[in-house]
Amino acid sequence: MSGFAEDTGFLTIDEIEAAARVIRQRSPARPRVGLILGSGLGPLADHVEDAARIAVKDVPGWPTSTVDGHVGEIVIGKLEGQSVIVMRGRAHYYEGYSMSRLGLPVRVIQHLGVKTLILTNAAGSVNPEFNPGDLMLITDHLNLIGMAGLSPLRGPNLDSFGPRFPDMSQTYSRPLRDLALKVAADSGLTLHQGVYICLAGPSFETPADLRFLRGIGADAVGMSTVPEATVAHHGGLDVLGISGISNKANLDGNTVTTHEEVLAAGRVIVPKLTALIRGVLGRL
Ligand code: HPA
Repeated sequence: MSGFAEDTGFLTIDEIEAAARVIRQRSPARPRVGLILGSGLGPLADHVEDAARIAVKDVPGWPTSTVDGHVGEIVIGKLEGQSVIVMRGRAHYYEGYSMSRLGLPVRVIQHLGVKTLILTNAAGSVNPEFNPGDLMLITDHLNLIGMAGLSPLRGPNLDSFGPRFPDMSQTYSRPLRDLALKVAADSGLTLHQGVYICLAGPSFETPADLRFLRGIGADAVGMSTVPEATVAHHGGLDVLGISGISNKANLDGNTVTTHEEVLAAGRVIVPKLTALIRGVLGRL
């Protein structure tokens, strides 16, 4: 066994403030929009102007990713005239963090005054109409790990952020979805719409898993985003979620899914995702 201890603690206001303080010391900016970049999607952060870069390992309590394709950097600057804080890479539940810990970055940006959060991920298509390289606007999610008891909101409620029992009927902001659809239409980008389902991973799904996921209404499957969207919505952020389809789900058991495939698809997705997100930021 390595020395990695499973993290089971709940977040406190003190540690959220401590992490926010370190970020404030490194950049005087007051970001209004947060962006979390998923597997292989980090290069979008290269477009940020006047960038201050902070290694996440320097921020106390911040969950650091151990996965290829996740750099572990916070980039603060300007994109399309908006003051942004970009998280280049994210940590996942399968890496050993508690759900609460995965919510820390969102709590910190809420504390810093961010009002809008754009979540991105790489996902497998469960909807047979979607292909690798496509973009999907997340209209809603299925929180399968949450249903199994693993919610980032478990534990003492942080009343200063939101209520004990948050409504989740409009987790993904309708005005932001409408804006993203308009930007896509105006730029000639195809933007599917669908339901994202979050599994714990790290194993990809079996064909039987995938038939089950399709049956319960999922269009795309991944191992992230839902914990962050849940914490963001609890704290009153407007959330936009976009999946980059990296692979076709293996419903018939005839193909193999690999992380390399996910990263390679990211290279096709990044230019489209960059155009979409720049368009949305420019019209916010
Ligand atoms: N399944 C789960 N997570 C993923 C996939 C997938 O097929 N592709 C990218 N992330």
